[in-house]
Amino acid sequence: MRLTAVAVATLALLAGCGERAARDAPVTVVFKHARMFGDDPVPRLVAAFEARHPGVRVRTEALGSSSDEQHQFFVINLEGSLGRGRGPGFDVMMLDVIWVPEFARAGWLLDLTPWLEPPELDPHFPAAAAAARWDGRVWALPWNFNVGLLYYRADLLARHGLAPPTTDVDLAWAVRRIQAVERDPKLDGYLWQGKQYEGLTVNALEALWASGTTLLGPRGEVFPDAGRAEGALAMLRGWVARGISPPWVSAADEELTRRAFGDGRAIFLRNWPYAMDLFQAVGSPVRGKVGIAPLPRRLLSVPAPGSTGGSHLGVSRSTRHPEASVAFARFLAAEEAQRILAGGSVLPTRRRLYHDPALVATRPHMPVLHDLALAGRPRPVTPAYLMLSTSLQPELSAAVVGVKSPARAVTDARRQLAYILSGLE
Ligand code: GLC
Repeated sequence: MRLTAVAVATLALLAGCGERAARDAPVTVVFKHARMFGDDPVPRLVAAFEARHPGVRVRTEALGSSSDEQHQFFVINLEGSLGRGRGPGFDVMMLDVIWVPEFARAGWLLDLTPWLEPPELDPHFPAAAAAARWDGRVWALPWNFNVGLLYYRADLLARHGLAPPTTDVDLAWAVRRIQAVERDPKLDGYLWQGKQYEGLTVNALEALWASGTTLLGPRGEVFPDAGRAEGALAMLRGWVARGISPPWVSAADEELTRRAFGDGRAIFLRNWPYAMDLFQAVGSPVRGKVGIAPLPRRLLSVPAPGSTGGSHLGVSRSTRHPEASVAFARFLAAEEAQRILAGGSVLPTRRRLYHDPALVATRPHMPVLHDLALAGRPRPVTPAYLMLSTSLQPELSAAVVGVKSPARAVTDARRQLAYILSGLE
């Protein structure tokens, strides 16, 4: 009897305040993000957001650090949720820059344009802002920025009287010379990412650009200059065939190469900026011994830009909490949160922070990274990017491993990619 009375009273209360209760109940936003390379800033960022937004809780769920695996996860879950009237199980997602047009076109992202101030993207690197837009709308907010660069062992170069290499010929010469004198079988030459995955496309694009050509011509032609494209692949293969790079780079990603260089087992490394803070960490065998430089040129008259990369924040179109989700994404992309990000290993997309005295005091290489980032070049911006890249990777890999000649790999890739592109018209 007493129970019933309590139940009745509770029901009456709920009926009266139903609407208010629903409005006041904390909203939970699920943030699906990549495991961050190096120091993970996400818990600190979430705590700062929640302190500012008492009505919103953020649950974070980390995916692995491989861009390809994250892509697969998102595609399966976003595709599966379409048309079923239920969401994909997350509200805010960390997107590799290369996916924004694909996800926008597929209808998976909330159009952020009406939620933003018109100049909101202006303080970010132009390449990051460009990657957030597609079809005249803004689909994501720039969050962290990457650019390919060359790390070198400054101590070894100094010991052998060598300057940081500016061309691939200088780099090869430095490797031969240092290895010949050091006679350390555990000291590799030049490490880069040759495994069959997105990182290989990045390394190959950098080789193409340094060779004065590109993957897609102005009218969408694949390998518009086949001769130079072959030269670029021959260079990648040549690093391995000539012993400038160890054979295992053909199966290596960012982390594998970062660890080997960080353990003091290589002279040069191509990687993203996150690695620098790990090299400089207390207890690191290479602390104080690493320098950064632009990627080596192949031709003196042609610049060798690093590929730009990094991640953006998108909101699921089927989120039940658009307001809270957009607020969280905007908070992460704003200056205060990017300052927290900049105190860790990854780099922010907001240019001003690279010259911020307090940040530069703890990360002295930020102004140099700013200039390298500004000179960086984006991968092709198209909804078909992932399809093109994944079809290209087996050809690139075959050339790097040496089971196909560069000429054959270029011909086969041309055929494959042209077929894909024709299907999209
Ligand atoms: C980094 C970059 C990303 C790129 C990936 C390739 O995560 O930020 O843009 O696609 O590396 O491995």
